[in-house]
Amino acid sequence: MNSLHGWFCLVLSSIALSHLLTFFPRCPFAGIVFAHYGPVWKQQRKFSHSTLRHFGLGKLSLEPKIIEEFKYVKEEMQKHGEDPFNPFPIVNNAVSNIICSLCFGQRFDYTNSEFKKMLNFTSRALEICLNNQLLLVNICSWLYYLPFGPFKELRQIEKDLTTFLKKIIKDHRESLDAENPQDFIDMYLLHVEEESKNNSNSSFDEDYLFYIIGDLFIAGTDTTTNSLLWCLLYMSLNPDIQEKVHEEIERVIGADRAPSLTDKAQMPYTEATIMEVQRLNAVVPLSIPHMTSEKTGKSRARARKEIRKRVCMGEQLAKMELFLMFVSLMQSFTFALPKDSKKPILTGKYGLTLAPHPFNIIISKR
Ligand code: HEM
Repeated sequence: MNSLHGWFCLVLSSIALSHLLTFFPRCPFAGIVFAHYGPVWKQQRKFSHSTLRHFGLGKLSLEPKIIEEFKYVKEEMQKHGEDPFNPFPIVNNAVSNIICSLCFGQRFDYTNSEFKKMLNFTSRALEICLNNQLLLVNICSWLYYLPFGPFKELRQIEKDLTTFLKKIIKDHRESLDAENPQDFIDMYLLHVEEESKNNSNSSFDEDYLFYIIGDLFIAGTDTTTNSLLWCLLYMSLNPDIQEKVHEEIERVIGADRAPSLTDKAQMPYTEATIMEVQRLNAVVPLSIPHMTSEKTGKSRARARKEIRKRVCMGEQLAKMELFLMFVSLMQSFTFALPKDSKKPILTGKYGLTLAPHPFNIIISKR
């Protein structure tokens, strides 16, 4: 049982939170996203946040990585010439590569079929979690183990993603250089070693590392991908707004220089556009379900205070990625819908995250 199971079963249960512990007694409540509020969550979150910051989360030092990743996006999009294409695989791979660089110390090429499979699994799982049949798991927990239909599909996804992430952790353990930690996993493994010498009750171990890596991989990929896809879709549908964004980019950055977060202050129209798209489509519509693990006797005010401490850990990273990727895309291309295409459905695919229905776009170079 692992944290991915946590993701999927907790989402399934978001509608019947109070039944959660009864129906999913083996669910670990580990990691960060679904961990109960308490000392373990605090320790793990603090360590994870400061380690990610050490590698650039929310800092200008991460900018070159995002700009570098955009070069691959541009190259990949240009391969389509004037033909329509679905931007999802490219954007998804690019966004995921940023969190993968921080956590695994590596990016994955857009032709890497195993990684593509993992990305498709992640979005598929977040989509089918709210499938009507799967929601029946709230009434009969054993349905999750049925050998057919969406139940089987979800379990298979959980298994494959687990194998993928555990292999990455194993490779890191084998090549760990204590003098030269390269990424989040290395830092965590070193912290596990240190804690094992000094603290026999430590919550830091390799199992917990796996939970956290699962959280970061899932939370750091789909959310930002969908936000960017919605931006591209709305720009294609609203050429007048797209033109104003182009004008602002032209005026503040020009055609050749790469964008920087320091440009943001002079680009209110572009920022307002991104914010308006986010307002129109909340990409995490249900937020994350939380509950107390036992009767606490705490006042409502106290419980509310604790809930308020649960804020997105990747917010600064997401804002940075969104701004830099969106501006880079707009600086390089004009986006439009293919002439003969139907008007896209704007309600989105309702899952844990709100993804746009698949759509094709055409690009023209600027
Ligand atoms: C546009 C992009 C994103 C959106 C809309 C978003 C939204 C959210 C929301 C609604 C929550 C739940 C907060 C709560 O528990 O009440 C959350 C939690 C979280 N997010 Fe994000 N997120 C985004 C990007 C990211 C990225 C890039 C990361 C990668 C580091 C990330 C990591 C996390 C983590 C670890 C939590 C759990 C925090 C905790 O419980 O302490 N998110 N996010």
